[in-house]
Amino acid sequence: MLSAIRDVLLPLTLPRGDSVALYDRLAPRYDRMHRRWLERAGAESLAALQGCLAAELEPGRRALDAGCGPGTLARWVMGAEPGADLTLVDLAPAMLERASSVPGRHVHADLLALPFSEAEFDIVICAWALETTAEPERAVAELVRVLAPGGLLCLCFCRQPEARSERLRSLRLRLSVRHGFGGLFLQGNFPQWLPHRQPRRLVSRRQLASFACWRKPAGSPSGVEP
Ligand SMILES: C[S@@+](CC[C@H](N)C(=O)[O-])C[C@H]1O[C@@H](n2cnc3c(N)ncnc32)[C@H](O)[C@@H]1O
Repeated sequence: MLSAIRDVLLPLTLPRGDSVALYDRLAPRYDRMHRRWLERAGAESLAALQGCLAAELEPGRRALDAGCGPGTLARWVMGAEPGADLTLVDLAPAMLERASSVPGRHVHADLLALPFSEAEFDIVICAWALETTAEPERAVAELVRVLAPGGLLCLCFCRQPEARSERLRSLRLRLSVRHGFGGLFLQGNFPQWLPHRQPRRLVSRRQLASFACWRKPAGSPSGVEP
């Protein structure tokens, strides 16, 4: 009960506009708070992402979890395929510390300037992190750059509902995500510019969350169909 009250009051005291400081403070209670987001809006998107990954993971596949947070999804990945070659990236040291028990390479880095060369990963995952960066479009460009041709990009993000009635109905939840997690609600067709084919999408409960996956055309390091 006390922890629930603390979680409600916490957003009022969190640093604004500095996602590293914000997530360093959130780290100890992140999973509990995030679970509420999943219950209210994000669960179907996350389930779709996990379904996609289950079909894609194989021993030796190079996977990147970008904006890994405390490593909950990364732990799931390693449970689903212990032979995966996993890299976890986050900019908040307290989050990386929490993820340190997940097997794999742990890298303290910025999604907007990933310290990896082109085509270094077969699978790139980014769950609920794009919208917490200063430039979500640039973050996707980085994820596409490090993805190998033929590889799969899997995204989950908070989505701005199109219907006015849903926007009104969800206002309180959207404000609490905005303040509590520093998360923007992205347009449903985000990222519009993904080269060539449209990503496959699922829009989940009350139009507030989205899952998108996209396969990078084979034989094209830039992502544009040859
Ligand atoms: C809402 S959490 C998502 C965590 C995890 N992916 C999940 O599914 O629960 C967002 C994470 O992105 C990280 N993050 C925010 N901006 C970042 C950036 N520019 N570079 C790397 N990580 C960033 C935060 O530190 C935080 O751990």
